Amino acid sequence: MPEARCIEDRRFYGRRKGRPLRKGQQHHVDTLLPRLAIALPASGKVDPRSLFAHAPEHVWLEIGFGGGEHLAEQARAHPEAGLIGCEVFLNGIATLLAQVSALGLSNVRIHPEDARDLLDVLPDASLDRVFLLFPDPWPKRRHADRRFIQPANLDLLARLMKPGAEFRVASDDPTYIGWALAHLVRHPAFAWTARGPGDWRARPADWPATRYESKALREGRQPVFMRFARV
Ligand SMILES: C[S@@+](CC[C@H](N)C(=O)[O-])C[C@H]1O[C@@H](n2cnc3c(N)ncnc32)[C@H](O)[C@@H]1O
Repeated sequence: MPEARCIEDRRFYGRRKGRPLRKGQQHHVDTLLPRLAIALPASGKVDPRSLFAHAPEHVWLEIGFGGGEHLAEQARAHPEAGLIGCEVFLNGIATLLAQVSALGLSNVRIHPEDARDLLDVLPDASLDRVFLLFPDPWPKRRHADRRFIQPANLDLLARLMKPGAEFRVASDDPTYIGWALAHLVRHPAFAWTARGPGDWRARPADWPATRYESKALREGRQPVFMRFARV
């Protein structure tokens, strides 16, 4: 029964909620999120450029933005781009909303649900950049099928990314780093652009830090910053 398998594949295993939201956070969720959340169509596709008032030339997508500090900073630094963030953790969404409000960002849209549901309804070759920063590593072997990097998700991203588009992946988990590299280097649609260790050991200047990077460094783990081109 392929349909049942698909629903099973789409199970989300992470946390959806943490501690109760503060009053200001709840206010943003009640008032700002409805204006920024993407309404998924019952059928057909959504042109991501049409989600933004300025019909941006470039659309960038972040999967699992956590507290949203990377997404907010990219949106601030690139007002010409349209930034779409996907996150299921309500407290993280509320944290991004506070930044959107404080910085007056008008080029951010949010999918407050499983990223894969949005990916399904985006048209081919509609994304210029995709970020997957410190994805949940699911380090146990028996949980490997929960990792976001999977052949099916890479096929989906390959369909959605324009030729030459960049896929940025960061991780501090040795198992996940090996897993991500193994899957991406053997995928025919992606090419690792690193020419030497300096290209993945240091975070590029146009790649804002996230709280998971700071946590990794505090705890003595060395993150890597990988860039892949959609070939
Ligand atoms: C380890 S955290 C990293 C957060 C952030 N990228 C950072 O670097 O600080 C991974 C995040 O991805 C989110 N996530 C995992 N799978 C997701 C999915 N399928 N769709 C949307 N968000 C997802 C989780 O809720 C979690 O907040």
